[in-house]
Amino acid sequence: MKKNVLSILDVKDDIEDIIDLGIKLKQDATNGQTFQYLKGKILAMIFERASTRTRASFEVGTTLLGGHAVFLNKDDIKIGERESVEDIALVLSRYVNIIMYRPLKKEDLHEFAKYATVPIINGLDMDEHPCQILADLMTIKEMKGRLHGLNFVFIGDGDDNLTHSYLLGCTLVGMNVTVISHKKHWPSKYFVDQANKIAEKKNLQVTITDDIDAVKNADIIATDTWVSLWYEKERQQIMADLKEYTITQDIMNKAKKDAIFMHCMPIYYGEEVTKELAHGNQSVIIDEAENRMWTQMALMVKLLKQ
Ligand code: CP
Repeated sequence: MKKNVLSILDVKDDIEDIIDLGIKLKQDATNGQTFQYLKGKILAMIFERASTRTRASFEVGTTLLGGHAVFLNKDDIKIGERESVEDIALVLSRYVNIIMYRPLKKEDLHEFAKYATVPIINGLDMDEHPCQILADLMTIKEMKGRLHGLNFVFIGDGDDNLTHSYLLGCTLVGMNVTVISHKKHWPSKYFVDQANKIAEKKNLQVTITDDIDAVKNADIIATDTWVSLWYEKERQQIMADLKEYTITQDIMNKAKKDAIFMHCMPIYYGEEVTKELAHGNQSVIIDEAENRMWTQMALMVKLLKQ
């Protein structure tokens, strides 16, 4: 495992171990066990963008492991404005043992990781969301009992940080991946090429299409918010482009009977998915949100063990 987790590729040989440790921590905690893996250790959490799940799950998870979390928002530290990324990275590295950073600019995250002397975790940047894919894979393993050989289908904005992470993470654990979207919103070539490289080695299929019927045979259907912060100015056009891709029960019914629905939240009901489906019997969205905590706990244990 690399020192920093900026991409899911940084833990490519450890994904299944992290997921299995996440499942074990969850089971042990359910059985009343308490943990001291992070006793005396401090996590700094830097947020330049809003968060519910990432902040709460990292903070509570660190406490459950016997450690302590410090929260810093953009108005506290004004990265690159009040002082340089380099100086903040060097100073915080003397106070804490691990840093989670959700940046406005991905370049700042990479600059930060270059100078920090403690492990850096990407808490979501414009390109990837490695913590979310770990939680989603744990949820799939809990629901399906396995990862290898499943058909994962993403419908919605394909040129999205989470879609990129799904392309990489799902192929790394042996799933076929299909992204269904309007041609203007297909995933970035770099991530499709990376996923194809992984898929070729493992004899898997990566399919990028605008055909909604490609959802058939899906074991998992996932989506994400159509308009993220970085693309707010393009909202109207994105809405018009993707209007055929709102996930409804009719679309879900085209997949396998036991298919599950996933969404990392927050959800904009009526845009990427209907509320009926998001809170229906096939949805596992609340399990996903919970599993952010267990997989991030597992990730921190593994990073600090090195
Ligand atoms: N899924 C996710 O990252 O949620 P938050 O933006 O609330 O952290």
